[in-house]
Amino acid sequence: MRFTFKRMADNIHPIFDSILGTGQKEKLVQQRSCVVWMVGLSGSGKSTLARALENSLHDKGFLTALLDGDNLRTGLNNNLGFSEEDRTENIRRAAEAAKLLASNGVITICSLISPLDAIREMARSIIGEKYIEVFIDCPLEVCEARDVKGLYAKARKGLIPNFTGIDSPFEAPKNADIVVKTAEQDLESSLDELVGEILPRISFNR
Ligand code: ADX
Repeated sequence: MRFTFKRMADNIHPIFDSILGTGQKEKLVQQRSCVVWMVGLSGSGKSTLARALENSLHDKGFLTALLDGDNLRTGLNNNLGFSEEDRTENIRRAAEAAKLLASNGVITICSLISPLDAIREMARSIIGEKYIEVFIDCPLEVCEARDVKGLYAKARKGLIPNFTGIDSPFEAPKNADIVVKTAEQDLESSLDELVGEILPRISFNR
């Protein structure tokens, strides 16, 4: 499914050009904001790595926010399921929320499966140049063998329809800015790699 932006509602008068800008917020908190968009199968290690990244940056004095797919689905996105249409809306809302946070100077880490090229293109186009795509690359067999949440076993029994990687597609990103192979190294190495990539991009005096 191709995503098309809805027409803007009539009679609205945005004030973007007269509110405090991102640069002013970044100067206050002495950091460059970005959106670290972590993509991957369920069980690939996205949430674990997202949490570890946030903790590490927080300890270094950065102001961060973490938007995790499962968490968002308990609130902002609690009326959405796992059809392609609902996943698209899920990502659209997450991307808009991330854009708001980043435009206020916050380093925003998003952890959502984001299974399709078109869905990720949409996130990139909503967020713009601050979007950094990180592919948490882990083979389906490894995710399924880990089965931390027990969801793959249920999906194989037909108890969870449209499960990503089983009966719902996952298109591996081809143009990710950063690729982390979680099946080939431990969490500490993955985290070191990611922090090494992100730090230069968020330092205020770069
Ligand atoms: S996305 O495809 O729309 O990006 P999202 O990251 O928000 O997915 O949610 C994925 C999480 O929802 C999984 O980690 C898992 O815990 C849960 N989940 C429940 N049903 C499904 C399903 N059918 N496919 C994938 N994940 C599911």
